[in-house]
Amino acid sequence: MPATNSYRILIAEDVDPVAAQMFKICGMEVTQNRSLTTQGIIDIIEDYNVLIVRSRKIKDKEIFKNAKNLLIIGRAGTGYDNIDLEAATNKGIMVMNAPDGNAPSTAELTMGHITGLARGMSVASGKVLNGIWDRDTPKQHHTLMNKTLGIIGCGRIGSRVAMMARAAGMNVIVYDPYIPDINITSLGATRATLDNLFKASDFITLHPTLNSDTRNIINYENLKKCKKGVYIINCARGAMVVPEDLSRAIMKGRVNSAALDVLPVEPSNDNPDLWKDNPLLAFGDGKVNFTAHQGGTTQESSFWVAQQIAEQVIDYLAIEKIANAVNYPFLEREQIMSKGIRTAYSYPDPNTYIQGYKNPYPNILISRDKNSYQKSEVGAYGLG
Ligand code: MLT
Repeated sequence: MPATNSYRILIAEDVDPVAAQMFKICGMEVTQNRSLTTQGIIDIIEDYNVLIVRSRKIKDKEIFKNAKNLLIIGRAGTGYDNIDLEAATNKGIMVMNAPDGNAPSTAELTMGHITGLARGMSVASGKVLNGIWDRDTPKQHHTLMNKTLGIIGCGRIGSRVAMMARAAGMNVIVYDPYIPDINITSLGATRATLDNLFKASDFITLHPTLNSDTRNIINYENLKKCKKGVYIINCARGAMVVPEDLSRAIMKGRVNSAALDVLPVEPSNDNPDLWKDNPLLAFGDGKVNFTAHQGGTTQESSFWVAQQIAEQVIDYLAIEKIANAVNYPFLEREQIMSKGIRTAYSYPDPNTYIQGYKNPYPNILISRDKNSYQKSEVGAYGLG
């Protein structure tokens, strides 16, 4: 007896509409509301089977307490430090991220910040807009070629930064205890210890996952090890930099300048103004260049991460195929029933993708009731 209740999807943030369109094409019910507060989510989460978010925090115990029907939390982006993985795992909720689509844009913004710092671009722009045509100050700026870039964390984003920096003629050194040598040497880069990276780099850029090793990694002790006049770039997570320590190091001239795309506290629906307490916001003269957590956000990358997370969720709900589940294998095997790994997602043209998108599982009722489709149909899609 096929169930008639289709899955219910809550998209609690400003995720590209392609995700909602794909879920609807597969017959699911979608609510998208970017203005929900945490309390708003707590109030309605019981009615949903899938929660899709970008960077907002999903950590409140009440969310998990009320998430009685939640199967998946989908993170339309790379980092998943905004989600309480332990609480999700204890509740048998799979957490998936979509790390492919916004790595290029984040790496590109990083490279832009590196160049922007080296060439004083934000100050120059302000001067020209104020009628000053300053051709003297640039003589104090720096060419990137032959300078050393230290990359902390060399995954999807860090390795793209390495490629671009190598193309600019920089020496690239990498600290990343989790990747094999071949990943580093194939980029034309060299492995370094963390201490050596701090000592040898002219520019330091952060691209690791936020965890207990990388939280506060840019602190005064480490900045004291650096070359005088080092440049610091953070397009990863705000909590990797201690604002007071970076501020002090800039004032003492230890750090030439910094570029930050992320802050330890960023605005949210629950706390729109708390982020303004950051002491680094007092630097207004090109000593700190800011962007508003936009590394992973362009027209293309917003589309790609939304498309990727929707594909992964649909694959799982239809045929239990798992990709980028960050708390699997912590989930018990019985909790997920079967596994299948898909690693490569395409980068379709945002303008044409949705017209060509069809329900990939037309013979399977993608339904809330797991018993409503025949296991034998799964074999037809290659998982067997
Ligand atoms: C990411 O982790 O995907 C980026 O920081 C962008 C975002 O949070 O949306």
